[in-house]
Order: sequence, then structure tokens, then C-alpha cells
Amino acid sequence: MEKYQENNSIIMFDVVDKLISIYEIKFSTNFDPKLLENFFLKNRGLETNLYINENNKDFQKIQDWCKNNHFKISFKKLIFKKITNAGSNSRLSFAKNLGKNKETFSKTFQACLSTTADPDFQHKKRNPEACYKTIASKTPIWNLLAIHKRAVVGIMILEEYPKYFSVNFASLLPEYRGKGFTKDLLAEAEKEFYSKDSKKYWLESTGDNNVPMCKALLSYGFKKTNQMYCYHRKVK
Ligand SMILES: CC(C)(COP(=O)(O)OP(=O)(O)OC[C@H]1O[C@@H](n2cnc3c(N)ncnc32)[C@H](O)[C@@H]1OP(=O)(O)O)[C@@H](O)C(=O)NCCC(=O)NCCS
Repeated sequence: MEKYQENNSIIMFDVVDKLISIYEIKFSTNFDPKLLENFFLKNRGLETNLYINENNKDFQKIQDWCKNNHFKISFKKLIFKKITNAGSNSRLSFAKNLGKNKETFSKTFQACLSTTADPDFQHKKRNPEACYKTIASKTPIWNLLAIHKRAVVGIMILEEYPKYFSVNFASLLPEYRGKGFTKDLLAEAEKEFYSKDSKKYWLESTGDNNVPMCKALLSYGFKKTNQMYCYHRKVK
């Protein structure tokens, strides 16, 4: 995640394949539209997804700024939270380590991306190779490949932040969906997290239209905390 900073105000963002995703905007004192204007001047021409957390103290002001600056509401993203524990047994087996499995990982990642329903991944579908390269170059990050009868059937990309863990991308091949395998992947990810730092919690997010993912998270023990509004703008 990159940081844009002015007068103690901060924008946290990521750029993947000419799309900027802004995940956090913090104003130390009062809302100042200049921070946003300067940021967009510096990144002129790029497509943007701007996420506003409904808990942000300037939620209404940032939302109004978006509406006045040609952003359109795109979708809502639900945030789920869970305290990590040791996880349970699984019907799948797993492989990890990006380096060793690069080819299989890349292939599976592309197959999974091409069928994802999550609005967050729509832009990545257009250029899975570029997206894979960006993800593969990031640290700290590691991945799980879910294996069933010797074939790779799903992936999860795991991330560690100072205060929490997170899953960046979770997907099963279409013929392996609807069978409850997500819980096996979640359990394996949780084992990884727990063994790294048992005190941390785990945040997960997904589009509010992603019914299977929301259901899988809730039935695995996640609690819904709050939501983010995603505003989108494409400048020519
Ligand atoms: C999201 C995804 C990982 C969920 O995995 P899954 O193994 O199919 O989910 P499960 O079989 O564990 O089902 C979870 C719940 O959703 C329900 N469900 C599954 N498919 C459903 C559908 N199409 N419509 C409504 N409910 C559905 C199941 O009945 C289950 O409910 P329960 O917990 O009450 O028993 C999988 O669908 C997928 O790979 N989707 C494409 C990629 C994607 O969108 N990833 C999420 C990125 S955050």
C-alpha cells in the first residue's frame, strides 16, 4: 500500500494495472478538499476506485466531494472480523510458497479470476497477467493453493498488516463451488495466521452482492462490522 501525505492528512492507496484503489483517507483536523484535488492532479488519467468507510469521521464530506467530482457509486463492500484461533481439519490438502508453485499458481489464479463475481476483481479480469505480477511482487504476502485429488482447485492470497491479517483474493474453480470447501480454505488460512501471531485478529471484506462469500464468512464465525462505499471514476 502506498501513502500520499500533506499537512498530516493521509491517503492510502494501491495501483494495479492503471487502476488506483484508495482504501483510506484521514484528515488530522478538518476535511480539506485540497488533499483530494492535489492527489488526483498527480494521478491524472487513471481510473479510480475510492472506498469510504462509513466509520470515517469525514464520511459525509468525502461522499459529497465524490458526488461533485464525477464519481459514481459502484458497490458496497462489507467488512467482517474474526479473532484468529487454531483452525480445524480439512478435506483438502494445501501447498504454499509463491516461488515454488509460480506456474501453477499463475494458471489457477487466472482461471479463478476469470469467473469471480466480486466487483472488486472486475478490473483485474481484464489483465490477469499484470495483476498477478503486481500481487506476486508484494510482501509480506503468501498464498495457499488448495489441492484435491492432486489437482489445484482453489487459491487464497494472504496478507499481514501491522494490526491484522487479511485475505486479498479467495477463489475456487467453478466445479468446486457450493460444496463448502471455502471453510476448509478459511481454516487453513487461519492456521497460518495463528501460527504467525495468535494475538492478531482477521479482517475480511467482500462485495455485498457476493452471497456465497458473505454466507461462508458468517458461518465460519466472522461478524459483520461495517461497510465501505466504493465510488468509481474513469477520467479520459
Ligand atoms: C466465493 C466462493 C469462494 C464461495 O465458495 P463456496 O465453496 O462456493 O461456498 P460454500 O459452498 O462454502 O457456500 C457458502 C454458503 O453460501 C451458500 N451458497 C453457495 N453458492 C450460492 C449461491 N450461488 N447463491 C446463494 N447461496 C450460495 C451455501 O449454501 C453456503 O451456505 P451455508 O453457509 O448457509 O451453508 C466461491 O463461490 C468462488 O470461488 N467465487 C468466485 C470468486 C469470488 O467471488 N471470491 C470472493 C472474493 S472476496
